[in-house]
Amino acid sequence: MAQGKLLMRALAGEVLPVPPVWMMRQAGRYLPEYRATRAQAGDFLSLCYNSELAAEVTLQPIRRYRFDAAILFADILLLPQALGARLWFATGEGPRLDPIETAAAAAALKPADAVHEHLAPVYETLRILRRELPAETALIGFAGAPWTVATYMIAGRGTPDQGPAHALKAADPTTFAALIDRLTDATIAYLSAQIEAGAEVVKIFDSWAGSLKGADFDAFALAPAKRITAALKARHPDIPVIAFPRGAGERYAGFARATGADAIALDQGLDAGWAAAHVQKDGCVQGNLDPALLVEGGDRLTAETQRIVRAFAGGPHIFNLGHGITPDADPENVHRMLEAIRGS
Ligand code: CP3
Repeated sequence: MAQGKLLMRALAGEVLPVPPVWMMRQAGRYLPEYRATRAQAGDFLSLCYNSELAAEVTLQPIRRYRFDAAILFADILLLPQALGARLWFATGEGPRLDPIETAAAAAALKPADAVHEHLAPVYETLRILRRELPAETALIGFAGAPWTVATYMIAGRGTPDQGPAHALKAADPTTFAALIDRLTDATIAYLSAQIEAGAEVVKIFDSWAGSLKGADFDAFALAPAKRITAALKARHPDIPVIAFPRGAGERYAGFARATGADAIALDQGLDAGWAAAHVQKDGCVQGNLDPALLVEGGDRLTAETQRIVRAFAGGPHIFNLGHGITPDADPENVHRMLEAIRGS
């Protein structure tokens, strides 16, 4: 147990004296070097599909902060694009896709195993990263969870309440379930290929899991995560899976056991003491720090960071934020956070 990358040891259930640390969206607009490389690539999607530059922005926060893990630079919406959906990013407005409003539009998507040609540059980014990362840094691959990806595909954009996806689920449950199934199959194919290209861990981002309630949560958040995890474990038994059912509240309890995930990412809405008792009891946890504290900085950042470290010190823990770091965060505050965790 006493060997290997710290992130992998925590994921295997080891309780470490200092938790390994990385940040959601650690490669991003708060870093001037990211903004420069993005300008060089032209735009966000061109950056995602330029393997050399995507590897470069993945490495930037590792050089600056010596994080224990690098997360592949890509986006959850590359997968729907590989399935045939048109995708673009409207400046200042976030992602746009052609909305899926009919059974015919859902049926016209490509089959799961047709995604690889389009996603080949992403796999190449991972191969570059495995060569270039420091020996102690773990490499995380990722995908969106089927429900979260479906919310963008159905609405054609981000929505505050995922209204269009809930509406399709109610009006045409057959088409909706078929879309979730297609995305589940495609996610298995995509994450398997990421692992074969060098990802040592994979994370499934269900950013909108919190808007699914009761039986819908079981059917469209829990069941797809379980099917993806089981399929990956059958092919790649040693690769840990991190699940992020953001906003799931009390449904966080038991999520790891029900899905087979090795670790659970916690949003900032959860009480750390509750999460230690009800989520960490089943395995590794990561997350919970409010990303707004990296804008605010100061003593509250230090105090909250230390409170989270203490709350999870009794079990396997990876330090992380409850959601992505925002563009207005001060890069110096990340050093302050690291000092509170590592003492350096
Ligand atoms: O460093 C990393 O974390 C790796 C890269 C990464 C990005 N997106 C890059 C990105 C990861 C893991 C994601 C996941 C992602 N993408 C999620 C799930 C996590 C979450 O945030 O809830 C979602 C919902 C998306 C979809 C998406 N991509 C949206 C809604 C937006 C626009 C909002 C925003 O933050 O600008 C994006 C764009 C995006 N993805 C950026 C980055 C660095 C900003 C793009 C830019 O440079 O202009």
